[in-house]
Amino acid sequence: MSNNTEEQITQNVLNSMAQAPNPRLKKVMNSLISHLHDFIREVELTQEEWALGVQFLTRTGEMCDEKRQEFILLSDITGVTMLVDAINHRLTDGATESTIFGPFYREGAQELPMGATISKDGRGEPVVVTGQVLSTDGTPIPGALLDVWETDENGLYEQQDPEQPDMNLRGKFRTDSEGRYSFVGIKPVSYAIPDDGPVGQLLRALGRHPFRPAHIHLLISADGFVPVTTHLFVKGDPYLDSDAVFGTKNSLVVDFIQHDAEEEAAHYNVTVPFYKVEYDFILNPAGK
Ligand code: BEZ
Ligand code: FE
Repeated sequence: MSNNTEEQITQNVLNSMAQAPNPRLKKVMNSLISHLHDFIREVELTQEEWALGVQFLTRTGEMCDEKRQEFILLSDITGVTMLVDAINHRLTDGATESTIFGPFYREGAQELPMGATISKDGRGEPVVVTGQVLSTDGTPIPGALLDVWETDENGLYEQQDPEQPDMNLRGKFRTDSEGRYSFVGIKPVSYAIPDDGPVGQLLRALGRHPFRPAHIHLLISADGFVPVTTHLFVKGDPYLDSDAVFGTKNSLVVDFIQHDAEEEAAHYNVTVPFYKVEYDFILNPAGK
């Protein structure tokens, strides 16, 4: 017979899992139940609040399809995504810091030649992004792959915006024999994460805004190295200190410097003035 006092309920649930064959699952679930029950006791959750929570999670699930993942968005705005990322990337050893992947990556971007533009509609202010991909010991990494994506000047990724060409503002670039890369993108803008669902309602109820500071996404990989999912953020962006998904890292905030050199503009096939960013990405050797 179980004795269902407030404390005993927790112990009963823990006891019920004592024979769980997977030790990791047992550890995770034991901790989850203990913290969840402590939380409920601490806030003295009412029946109405419990029902509201269930409705919220139900609506979150109902919002999910192959294009929209509202549960990951919930994880993002509660800092869970970045906390998991931080725990799993503790020892950077000088390597480029990782940040949130986000829901707008698409596989299959075209590999483009060095210095090419990822803009297919010519909108926005051009930015030349250039630098090297290096190992943590400073050795250049030839043949590293940079998979890049960003929003258009209206703050929308191409799959959110029927006006944009398919695969607009996406491209892959390979480093040369000296580990150098360059591509042309557009100066990113700050934009709102999808806020037309339960996560948006929660943000508003909490007095929070849905904006992310302007950024370019990069996924950088090379044979024999640990890949990194990262961003380049624009220095001076008003949302750097209040990113809706807590993805900002100081080491990834860079100066977008305006240039008007005609020769360089012609080299990159851009008009003046254009912006330029110089940034080296550092990868950790695999299996260290
Ligand atoms: C993004 O940066 O694309 C993003 C990240 C998390 C949630 C929504 C968007
Ligand atoms: Fe983004």
